[in-house]
Amino acid sequence: KAQRTPLIAGNWKMNLDHLQAIALVQKLSWGLKDVKHDYSETEVAVFPPFTDLRSVQTLLAADKLSLVLGAQDVSPHESGAYTGDVSAQMLAKLDVHYLLVGHSERRQGHGESDELVGQKALAAHRAGMVPMICVGETAEDLEQHGAAAIPLAQLAAALAPLPQDAEFVIAYEPVWAIGSGQAATPEQAQEVAKAIRESLRELRGDERADATRVLYGGSVSSQNVAGFLRQPDVDGALVGGASLKSDEFTRIIQFKK
Ligand code: G3P
Repeated sequence: KAQRTPLIAGNWKMNLDHLQAIALVQKLSWGLKDVKHDYSETEVAVFPPFTDLRSVQTLLAADKLSLVLGAQDVSPHESGAYTGDVSAQMLAKLDVHYLLVGHSERRQGHGESDELVGQKALAAHRAGMVPMICVGETAEDLEQHGAAAIPLAQLAAALAPLPQDAEFVIAYEPVWAIGSGQAATPEQAQEVAKAIRESLRELRGDERADATRVLYGGSVSSQNVAGFLRQPDVDGALVGGASLKSDEFTRIIQFKK
């Protein structure tokens, strides 16, 4: 675990216009400066909507801020007649580093298949970005198959098209815990994170398995974050609602204190 830098990521989902985005990033970076946050000790990333990316990129560059930029989705295609879609190249040009693929809200609301998620991860990798692959079971899956079966199947399918040397991050987000205020217990998160790492060992070898960060997501708050990060296989958090408030997100980032 020591070799994996913890990562706290804020997925804003469809919230905040570009002016609100600038205000939040400013407040957040000031807050982190106040508490003398060490970005090399805990990495911090934000995932604004597409329309905010250019503004946030400009702000980060102008003020030399150490927050890392992520995007919430990407087209699997390079360019062409795909109305409404955004390509990986376009996002890479905006200094986007992480790319969320396979969020359950896209799988459910947009019918994204495991195969499509893999194609999106590949598009991100080819453009030089790091896919953050989201996996997780619904309450029904949990009852029928236990916690790990569905996340592991989603993981294998998403990794299939990715070359062996590709870097990626995994976010384990049990669907029943997202936005519900009912987070998994640290032990539940650890159980699946451990299974994910074991599966990575088989699929990608020891080196990749030991270096890959596995995040937990689903109703993370400043109250429960430390419990997750104490687990040997949980290397960070993917935060939704609580990442929209700079004070609360700052407390989450400062989980060690
Ligand atoms: O991607 C993060 C997310 O799905 C979790 O959302 O609001 O439960 O923290 P939330």
